[in-house]
Amino acid sequence: MEIHIRRVTIEDIPALSLIARQTFFDTFTGTCTHEDMQGYLDQYYNNEQLGKEIMDPETFCFFAETKGKPLAYLHFKEDYSNFSMIKKWKALELKRIYVLKEFHGQGIAQKLMDFILNFALEKKYEVVWLGVWEHNIRAQKFYEKYGFINSGYTHDFPIGNTPQTDLWLWKFL
Ligand SMILES: CC(C)(COP(=O)(O)OP(=O)(O)OC[C@H]1O[C@@H](n2cnc3c(N)ncnc32)[C@H](O)[C@@H]1OP(=O)(O)O)[C@@H](O)C(=O)NCCC(=O)NCCS
Repeated sequence: MEIHIRRVTIEDIPALSLIARQTFFDTFTGTCTHEDMQGYLDQYYNNEQLGKEIMDPETFCFFAETKGKPLAYLHFKEDYSNFSMIKKWKALELKRIYVLKEFHGQGIAQKLMDFILNFALEKKYEVVWLGVWEHNIRAQKFYEKYGFINSGYTHDFPIGNTPQTDLWLWKFL
C-alpha cells in the first residue's frame, strides 16, 4: 500500500475530526464512562478546537493517507507547558500518533515516527518526548522499538472524571 504523508490544512478539519474521534474512541473506550468519553471527544476534537490548532503555525499535524483517505495522523509541537523540566533541552513533544485500528501493524505508524524523528534531527532538537497511558502496552512497545525510554516522570491525564496516568517517555537524539 502506498502511503503519502502530507500536512493537514484547514480544509481537512472535518476529516481530521473524524479520524481523531474514531481513533481516540477505539483506544480508550472501556477505560472511562460513556459520558467521560463523549465529553472528551466533544471538548478536544470539535472543528473549532482542531481549527485553532491547525491555524497555529507552530503546530504540525500530518495525515498518512492512501488514495486521499487518511489512515493515521501525527501531531507534534515544541511545547514545554506540561513538562517543565524538559525546558533544559530543545524539546519536541509528540502529542498524538493515531492509526485506524484496522491498519495497525502495517508499518504506517513507523512512517509517521520516522517522519517526526527526521524533522527533529533536521531542526536540531535534542529530545523528543511524549505521554503514554500507563496501560497502553501496545503503544509503549512501539515507542520502545524506537528507543524511547521511561523518563521516570508521570502526568495526570484524566478523561472527564476518570483519572488516568500517563508516563512521560523520551528519546535523546
Ligand atoms: C500505537 C500505534 C501508533 C502503533 O502502531 P502499530 O502499527 O500498532 O505498531 P506496531 O504493530 O509496529 O508495534 C506495536 C507493538 O506492540 C505489539 N502488540 C501488538 N498487539 C499488542 C497487544 N494487544 N498488547 C501489547 N502489545 C501488542 C506488537 O507485536 C508490536 O511489537 P513487535 O513489533 O515487537 O511485535 C497504534 O497501535 C495505534 O494507533 N494505537 C492506538 C492509538 C494509540 O495508542 N496511540 C498512542 C497514544 S500515546
